[in-house]
Amino acid sequence: MDPFEVIPTGGALGAEVRGLDLRNELDAVTVRLVRGAFLDHGVLYFRDQRISQADLVRFTRYFGDPVPHVRPQPDRPIKEIFVISNVTEDGKPIGALGSEEIPFHSDLSYLPEPGTISMLYALEIPDKGGETMWASGYAAYEALDPDLKQNIDRLHAVHRHPIDALNTPEPTMHPVVRTHPETGRKVIYVSPHLTHHIADLARKEGKVLLEELIAHAIDGRFVWKHQWRVGDLVMWDNRCTMHRRTPFDDRQRRVMWRTQVFGAGTG
Ligand code: SIN
Repeated sequence: MDPFEVIPTGGALGAEVRGLDLRNELDAVTVRLVRGAFLDHGVLYFRDQRISQADLVRFTRYFGDPVPHVRPQPDRPIKEIFVISNVTEDGKPIGALGSEEIPFHSDLSYLPEPGTISMLYALEIPDKGGETMWASGYAAYEALDPDLKQNIDRLHAVHRHPIDALNTPEPTMHPVVRTHPETGRKVIYVSPHLTHHIADLARKEGKVLLEELIAHAIDGRFVWKHQWRVGDLVMWDNRCTMHRRTPFDDRQRRVMWRTQVFGAGTG
């Protein structure tokens, strides 16, 4: 086994993993221990990596099948890599998502089977802004008033992407409270970016409740902010976290490689 340390952020979620060089293959015991730390902390980050696209895909594969992202991207040699960037070359964007704020969301919750694990590797970052923050759905659920927990337990919400062309023809619905399939822990699963309305309640009543739940779920007590450095790889569990990106000056460059897993082997 490769020796490594797991250092919790001290916030509601997240930990740094120190001592692994992700250019190298990992043995089965190391993968099992990293996976355990991932399930415990929801977000893991690895600093000072110098990995290739193939290394990122190999590392992702330890946790599930990396798939090409559902959104189209320019042709590229390794299709499982999705470039997130504001940079344009010859007048064409090299990636997606620009420089604007992206509000809190769990990846791809507008699909009937949302993304489970996502990874992001930083190649170029702006001097200021473009930080990513994560919120713990576990901590938010656990801090709810017991009566409210009971009231929301059986509710469902409709999730939609603001770009209508990305949505499925039938509305996508998920429980407001999900149970993580691997940890068995309960999570609040609504977000300001992608949750449209609560399906089981009248619109007005549902709107008030949804606003209350979202305000609670993104409260600072449950949020941890990552200060990116070039060479950081962050992996997160969309089944129990949401994330948000702060905006940055579009004259600065931000280039990230991303991989996406749907479903996840139990490793
Ligand atoms: C995302 O929302 O998936 C992108 C996060 C980021 O660019 O930091």
